[in-house]
Amino acid sequence: MKNSLTEPIVTAIQHIHEQQRSHPDAMGDLSWLLDGILTATKIIQSYVRRAGILDVIGSQGTTNVQGEIVQKLDIIANETILRCLGYRDIVGIMVSEEDDEPTIVKSPGSGGKYIVLFDPLDGSSNIDVNVSIGTIFSVLRCRPDLPDEKTGLAHCLQRGAEQVAAGYVVYGSSTVMAYTTGQGVHMATLDPSVGTYVLHAENLKMPARGKTYSCNEAYCDTFPEGVQKYLRWAKSEEAGGYGLRYIGSLVADFHRTMLKGGVFLYPPTSKNPQGKLRLLYEANPLAFMAEQAGGVATDFTGRLMDKTPTSLHERTPLLIGSTEEVERVMSFFD
Ligand code: AHG
Ligand code: MN
Ligand code: MN
Repeated sequence: MKNSLTEPIVTAIQHIHEQQRSHPDAMGDLSWLLDGILTATKIIQSYVRRAGILDVIGSQGTTNVQGEIVQKLDIIANETILRCLGYRDIVGIMVSEEDDEPTIVKSPGSGGKYIVLFDPLDGSSNIDVNVSIGTIFSVLRCRPDLPDEKTGLAHCLQRGAEQVAAGYVVYGSSTVMAYTTGQGVHMATLDPSVGTYVLHAENLKMPARGKTYSCNEAYCDTFPEGVQKYLRWAKSEEAGGYGLRYIGSLVADFHRTMLKGGVFLYPPTSKNPQGKLRLLYEANPLAFMAEQAGGVATDFTGRLMDKTPTSLHERTPLLIGSTEEVERVMSFFD
């Protein structure tokens, strides 16, 4: 019987420092960077929790590079992350869903070490209706082999397999942070009474199977034939009781898949022939997390983290989740 009075209390930043110890040559820069992200998400969640009484509901009245209407909270979240990470030069470049171009904090040639790529607020359409939303982040190293350049673009267009860290925060019934530095997936919950993330799961493993599929079936008629065949199977007697869960916030749909197993699909559609989700700061970080937890992520053609990006805001089809469930979806493709 676990005695809660004897269980150790480990904060997320303590855990991050412990992970750092396994890299004797580490100088603490990545730990500092991750702590900056934690701080930013604590500030973001303080706005999310009071959205209805602050003037942060609704749209900003502008559209972003994605052509999407920008919500006020998108901007607040974006500026919060930029401000929490932008003052120390170990962060060389920041890439945000909300900014057309990368923000060069310190050019790689003059010492900028890391690239932080993020979706500051994922699931914006759910802000006004009090449904879970989140923040997704990915960390790459600036490439020493590249000539220093003003835009930093070449440094950013690296495969997901090059990520050194990734994670997300779900602003749900509680505020849960999950992260990896390539040594497993670990989760912590924000204790709002003390403003600290407290670790509650280490080396979390995604179940190898799960009878939940997650996709927006409104687009079903324009999904690839293999996906349509899979969906017909999943609803059949033969499949034996699959359920559909779709929150419309990738980060929340993925978090459920991470904990309960199952599969999330955002296939190509006629509206988004390349898929809707962004490769660099939505699909890649979650693919890193999925693989670290024993799951898989693909773009329906190959390993997602092997894709070489060609543009900053490139979209990709995404199929991610339990190994057996992803294999089952792909078994319906000829
Ligand atoms: P964002 O709010 O950052 O633009 O992301 C929204 C994404 C993702 O969170 C979600 O899975 C997907 O959009 C939902 O798209 P549909 O409304 O087309 O299902
Ligand atoms: Mn998003
Ligand atoms: Mn977003």
